[in-house]
Amino acid sequence: MWASLFLLLFAHTGKCLADFAFISNLDRDVEIQSCVARVIEQTFGLSRRFTYIYNDYIEYLPSAIANPIIVINARKPWSHHYNFYEAMYVIEAFDSGTLRETMKALKESTLWHPHSTREGKFVILTNEKDLASIFRAVWKFSILHVVLVVFEDGTNGKVVTSDPKTQENGCGLTPKLFDYQDCDANLAIKFLSPMRNYNQCPVFIDFHNPYDHRLKYIKPLLPVIEDVLNTTSIRVREPPSKPEMMAVGE
Ligand SMILES: *[C@@H]1O[C@H](CO)[C@@H](O)[C@H](O)[C@H]1NC(C)=O
Repeated sequence: MWASLFLLLFAHTGKCLADFAFISNLDRDVEIQSCVARVIEQTFGLSRRFTYIYNDYIEYLPSAIANPIIVINARKPWSHHYNFYEAMYVIEAFDSGTLRETMKALKESTLWHPHSTREGKFVILTNEKDLASIFRAVWKFSILHVVLVVFEDGTNGKVVTSDPKTQENGCGLTPKLFDYQDCDANLAIKFLSPMRNYNQCPVFIDFHNPYDHRLKYIKPLLPVIEDVLNTTSIRVREPPSKPEMMAVGE
């Protein structure tokens, strides 16, 4: 009799535990989806089109999202039909190794545009604990508008941003100084203003169009602009003179 009572109790407790685990996983999924949706809304706006890049298995794409999305598996050959250069990306990368591979594939794809991709906005969804390696993987391409959402075991997401143009971050080479936010209703993502203190780091100015006449007026003003922006040097990335000579440089 004790044995059967014990068995009954055991079976009952086991079932409750299973239910509990199931419910808390579901809750976490809902939390994660609403976190990702919130970050997407603040980064791109409610209805702007963005590209969602994943690696074989989509983990974090919210099911209820109004934006038009292009979904690409980074591990499959990238289609050549996607090149309209809407430079807004969400990238799922479990760790920094995956992110480096994905960035390389993006760079080699028809989606990559030598100027507008650099000025684009990137949301990186990752489980990587070494945040410096994540920022380095993206800053390497002169991409400055980066929002990380980090899902460590059991958490619903931390939002991390950083300014590469600081001495603490080695002007982008050694990321160290990060801003953390909880991914809740108080989330406020601020993007870096182009008119800011560059803390004695070099900066680039991109010119997209070979017929942009501002180029010849800006050049003599560079020393003044350098002073205002507190930068050591401004390097002007000039446009290719002919479209077919468009260089894909970093
Ligand atoms: C320029 O940047 C350096 C390095 O971060 C900083 O120490 C200095 O105060 C900055 N100057 C101005 C005028 O903001």
